[in-house]
Amino acid sequence: MPLTQQDLDREIAAARADAPPSPHPPRDYPPYRSSALRHPHRAPVVVRGDDPDLVELHTPVFGPADVTELDSDLTRQHRGEPLGERITVSGRVLDSRGRPVRGQLIELWQANASGRYAHRRDRHPAPLDPNFTGLGRALTGDDGGYRFTTVKPGAYPWRNHENAWRPAHLHFSLFGTAFAQRLVTQMYFPGDPLLAYDPILQSVPEAAARERLVAAWDHGLTVPEFSLGYRWDIVLDGPSATWTEEGR
Ligand SMILES: [Fe+2]
Repeated sequence: MPLTQQDLDREIAAARADAPPSPHPPRDYPPYRSSALRHPHRAPVVVRGDDPDLVELHTPVFGPADVTELDSDLTRQHRGEPLGERITVSGRVLDSRGRPVRGQLIELWQANASGRYAHRRDRHPAPLDPNFTGLGRALTGDDGGYRFTTVKPGAYPWRNHENAWRPAHLHFSLFGTAFAQRLVTQMYFPGDPLLAYDPILQSVPEAAARERLVAAWDHGLTVPEFSLGYRWDIVLDGPSATWTEEGR
């Protein structure tokens, strides 16, 4: 028997009552069924006890020659234009002291405007869009800034509980200066009624930390006659850190 939304709301309330205040969700979060499968269950193995810094030397290397302007414009990657509401998403990547993080590789992946991923394992019976792959990447500039042009993703159902729908979201991945620093997270859209029903977003104990995952409408970022604008800053560390998860 699938769990109802009412059951889920009770589980969320119980989990929140138990959780210590934190911007990061607990690893096991019962309302988000598969969270138990998404983290290691054993203690980390030391890669090189005699030289722990060696692993830190290995990192993806990307420069302006590898990442072109086309990579950050998901509306221009095919012969035709994708369907959907065009959006511009822009912000800054910052460290714990609010300093810009330059030359940072940001990867983005998302569903199309109908809520369907261009992925063989996505069985949601919504149409694929031949003009939309849903993958992008960008390098941050000297001010830590990034900018993507894309279409607003649709909500999609998933099988976490009865009649479960994910709110519209963009997946983001950021590499720091080593693989071990990777941040994987999701950005949401303001005013989405599904936010309150989403156990992935609700797994973040602190309300302020949840709010940091929701982009701000920014009229100044809209491109007249072309796209609507959203601003979203990503903080890599410290008390205002953007939470990380390996979500769906
Ligand atoms: Fe997703």
